[in-house]
Amino acid sequence: MAGIIFFRTKDLEAIKEFYRSRIGMTTWLVQSECVILKHGNLLLGFCEREETDSQGIITFFYQGCEDVDEMYRKLQPLAIDEPKENETYGIYHFFIKDPDDRLVEFQAFLYPVDPYLAGDELLLTRRSIREFQDTVIPDELLWKLFEICRFAPTTRNCQSYRFIVIRDPKVLRFLAGLRGGSSAPIVRAPMAVAICTDPGITGRPVQDGCIAAYHFTLAARLVGLGTCWIAAMNRVDVKEKLGIPQAHYIATITPLGYPAERPQAPSRKPANELVHFFD
Ligand SMILES: Cc1cc2nc3c(=O)[nH]c(=O)nc-3n(C[C@H](O)[C@H](O)[C@H](O)COP(=O)(O)O)c2cc1C
Repeated sequence: MAGIIFFRTKDLEAIKEFYRSRIGMTTWLVQSECVILKHGNLLLGFCEREETDSQGIITFFYQGCEDVDEMYRKLQPLAIDEPKENETYGIYHFFIKDPDDRLVEFQAFLYPVDPYLAGDELLLTRRSIREFQDTVIPDELLWKLFEICRFAPTTRNCQSYRFIVIRDPKVLRFLAGLRGGSSAPIVRAPMAVAICTDPGITGRPVQDGCIAAYHFTLAARLVGLGTCWIAAMNRVDVKEKLGIPQAHYIATITPLGYPAERPQAPSRKPANELVHFFD
């Protein structure tokens, strides 16, 4: 399910310029005298008409207050006020007016909200997180995450994956110490999750495990949590410590927590270097 909110405007060019250049929206679709712009999962349509609709508020929301501050720096001359906390709604926000005199708000929620990321944003902005806040993850959020994980594909839909939640600080320290800097992020989070598969259930434990683990990293990002794939954890000593049968496969053990860093995306090769057509 998706949706578009349409507005009438007398000056489509000015509106397109404003929302694309100033706000950073992209053109999703052009239909005759209408344009539909996209920002994350928000689709806004503007159609050139004799009248303008300027009621309501268009609100863009961001992951953190620092994003709101960045938008404020870009839009300061247009801002009606400075960014501030609003205790009633638990948000951090400021307002501007668009060329049609519509009120436009930029905000961040100051508490966790239900998943909202659009698919492309989710896939493009997942990062390996290696620094975490101490904030405890509520069990309700954890279950939301595991509910999504049930939909990872597996060989013959055998659902061979198991998620072992590790919160014991002694065990976290043990795991973090196994591979020097490579495993160190484990102890910087309030918990870690081992993603394993049972070869008694699947003929393809590696594939099922790795897909489930990647699905987990995306689901975590969706609910606002950070992860980092820690490799080479499929070890005898790790299985002994966690009570995992030696025959089982551990795809990864990832730290899990609210991110305390926002790493830049590492460089990626262009798609035309990676894709080959065999026609
Ligand atoms: C199979 C695999 C093994 C990895 N092993 C480790 C690891 O042991 N420790 C670590 O800090 N990061 C590890 N990473 C994370 C990569 O360094 C990271 O994915 C890569 O630098 C790209 O950054 P991004 O995840 O932010 O896009 C691993 C990633 C994968 C896919």
